[in-house]
Amino acid sequence: MKTQILKTDEIQKAADIIKSGGLVAMPTETVYGLAADALNGEAVAKIFKAKGRPMDNPLIVHIADISQLDMLVREVPEKARILAEKFWPGPLTIILPKSDIIPVEVSAGLDTVAVRYPSDTTAQELIRLSCPLAAPSANLSGSPSPTSASHVYDDMCGRIEAVIDGGECKVGVESTVITLAGDVPRLLRPGGVTLEQLRAAIGEVILDSAVLDPLEEGKQAASPGMKYKHYSPKADVKLIKGPEKSFAEYVNSHKEEGAAALCYDEEESILEVPVIKVGSAADQEAQANKLFAALRHADKKGYSILYAHCPEKNGIGLALYNRMIRAAGFEVIELE
Ligand code: TXA
Ligand code: MG
Repeated sequence: MKTQILKTDEIQKAADIIKSGGLVAMPTETVYGLAADALNGEAVAKIFKAKGRPMDNPLIVHIADISQLDMLVREVPEKARILAEKFWPGPLTIILPKSDIIPVEVSAGLDTVAVRYPSDTTAQELIRLSCPLAAPSANLSGSPSPTSASHVYDDMCGRIEAVIDGGECKVGVESTVITLAGDVPRLLRPGGVTLEQLRAAIGEVILDSAVLDPLEEGKQAASPGMKYKHYSPKADVKLIKGPEKSFAEYVNSHKEEGAAALCYDEEESILEVPVIKVGSAADQEAQANKLFAALRHADKKGYSILYAHCPEKNGIGLALYNRMIRAAGFEVIELE
């Protein structure tokens, strides 16, 4: 199959591909998504094949109007209304008990469905010209989520009908995922909407243990995606916690062959290994925005060791920590 690259004024073409049961990668404000008609089980099954994704990992359904939520779920509780009004369109995914129209391929056999209303206008227009879209991140299973059309093309060329080039994603990490299907709201994946913002909006929100720690053996994942290895570059990622000066000292005394560092912009001149800059030390949003591109770049360069700062676990830093701790196999090197 030849993969077309479409411009943002060719969304009708993309909508036609979706309506005929094909796959289109679309930009969103978080990361690129690999979209199919959410109500067409056969089309959705092709997503799993194209990504090499395990069939037991459910997909997010993307909508372009809050009213579309009603047909996808059994009921919309008060807290879901509050979150939708406050954070949609935007990087928040809400899980609720699913309605009967959700194909088993989307829910992966669960009784719930994840729904998100993205703020990216290209994604919105595609949905409006076609239908609600099931879309995971548009990477091959196991590689970092794509934040540009060229990342998608690198992974998906020949596997999907088209990718819409909408430039770079603004947020750069995947959406925050919260489930309202249990007794107490539970954060399953941190993202652009922070835990602090969620608690301010609806009160108690439990932080699922799989956000910060490896899943205990034998325990079932609240979110099936958490049990798979994620966000791993080919390099061995060493996550380092400590003052910036100690970071530089540590890296400079461990400059083995193939070593490189993900560093803050300010540190470039004091490090003695090749660096990939991820934004200013104080700017966690920039760091989130650059993380996945940095990991892909490290792969292309063929680095074998990648030193990186351990992010603080607040604000969008929690999302950074969640992605990086996985890339580092849950190990942190603590410095004085
Ligand atoms: O920002 C995003 O969320 C991007 C863009 C394209 O919207 N999408 C994305 O999808 O990251 P994906 O499939 O890569 O990650 C969705 C996560 C997975 O970990 C999956 O297991 C979880 O959400 N998930 C989906 N439906 C669920 C459900 N019903 N219950 C529990 N977890 C669910
Ligand atoms: Mg993904």
